[in-house]
Amino acid sequence: MKIVEVGPRDGLQNETASIPTDVKIAFVDALSRTGVSEIEVSAFVSPKRVPQLADAEAVFRGIDRKAGIVYSALVPNRKGLERAIDAGVDKVSVFTAASETFNRKNINASIAGSIRRFEPAVKLARQSGLPVRGYISTAFWCAFEGRVSPNAVIHVAEKLLDLGVDEVSISDTIGKATPQEVAALLESLLPRIAPEFVAVHFHDTYGRGVENVLASLDFGIQTFDASVGGIGGCPFAPGATGNVATEAVVKALQEKGVLNQVKRERLALARRVLDPFLTEERRSVPKGGSAACAVCEFHNGETCCGRKDRIIGSEHVGSAHRP
Ligand code: HMG
Ligand code: MG
Repeated sequence: MKIVEVGPRDGLQNETASIPTDVKIAFVDALSRTGVSEIEVSAFVSPKRVPQLADAEAVFRGIDRKAGIVYSALVPNRKGLERAIDAGVDKVSVFTAASETFNRKNINASIAGSIRRFEPAVKLARQSGLPVRGYISTAFWCAFEGRVSPNAVIHVAEKLLDLGVDEVSISDTIGKATPQEVAALLESLLPRIAPEFVAVHFHDTYGRGVENVLASLDFGIQTFDASVGGIGGCPFAPGATGNVATEAVVKALQEKGVLNQVKRERLALARRVLDPFLTEERRSVPKGGSAACAVCEFHNGETCCGRKDRIIGSEHVGSAHRP
C-alpha cells in the first residue's frame, strides 16, 4: 500500500499566498518523517503559468532526502524533464486529460498533441533510468464538458502505457466522482491494466474522497494520492478544491488494517509547518498557534535542535517566519 503525498505540488500550485522556498523545504522534510512512500515535491512547468512552483530547483536542492522515499515532480515536456534531471528527481510525471477542453486550458495541447509532446520526454526519462507516471485528469468529470466516459479514460491510459509510462494516475480533477462512478471506471479499466499499475488521485470537492479511496481499494488499487490537510487544486479547473486529505486516507486505510507505516501525528506536524503561511481560509491551525520545529519536531523549542532558520512559530523566529 503506497501513499503518494502530493501536497508540496498539487497543494501549493493553487495557493494564493506566496510560500517562501525555505518553508516548502521544511514542509517536504517534515513529510519525509511521516512514512509516506513518495512525495511529489514540485513541478517543472512554465513559471509564467504556475508561478507558485517557480522555485522547483531550489526546493529540490534544499531538501534532506531520506532513503526509501521517492521524490518526484511533474514535467510537461522535454524542457521540464531536463530541468528535473538536473535537479536530481527520482521519478517524473507527465500529465494529460480525458477531456479536450480541460487539456487545452491546462497544457495548451489536444490530448493527442500532448502525448506526442511527451514522447521525447518519456524516452529521455527511460534512458536516464527514471520511472514515469502518467496522470489522466478529468477521468470522471470535466468542469467544461461534464461527465467523461470510461472509454475516453481507457483510450488515454492505453496511449500512455504504449508510450512507456510505468503507472497511470486516474484523477478526479474537480472532485465530483461518486464511488459508483469510480467502480464503473475501474471495472472497465482493470481488465486491460493490472491494478498495480494504477494509482488514484481524488480531489474532495463533494466530500466523497475517502469513500472513493475505499471503493478503489475494493478493486485492488494500492497507490493513493493525497495531500496533508486536504490542500490543493488545479488553477486551470474552475471549482476544483483540495485533494483528499492524507490524514483521512491514512485513517481509513489503517481502520481497514491495510496500512501501518504512516504516522498520523507526524502528518499533523508537517501540516503545522505549512499552516502559518497559507491563506487564512486554508489554515487548520490558528495563526500564531502551535510552534513546531521542522527539523527536530519538538514543540516550542524544548530541547530543540536549534536550526533556527528552519524553525517556525512564536518562540523561534527564523528566516522562514512570516510575522
Ligand atoms: P505553451 O503555453 O504551449 O507554450 O506551454 P510553450 O511550450 O511555447 O512555452 C511557453 C513559454 O514557457 C516559453 O517561454 C517556454 O520556454 C516556457 P517564453 O519563450 O515565453 O519566455 N516553458 C517552460 N519553462 C520552464 N519549464 C518548462 C517549460 N516549458 C515551456 N517545462 C506548457 C505548454 C505545458 C509548458 C504550459 O502550458 C505549462 O507549463 N502549463 C502548466 C500546467 C500546470 O502545471 N497545471 C497544473 C498541474 S496539472 C494538475 O494539477 C492535475 C493533476 O493534479 C491531476 C488532477 O488532479 O487532475 C496532475
Ligand atoms: Mg490534482
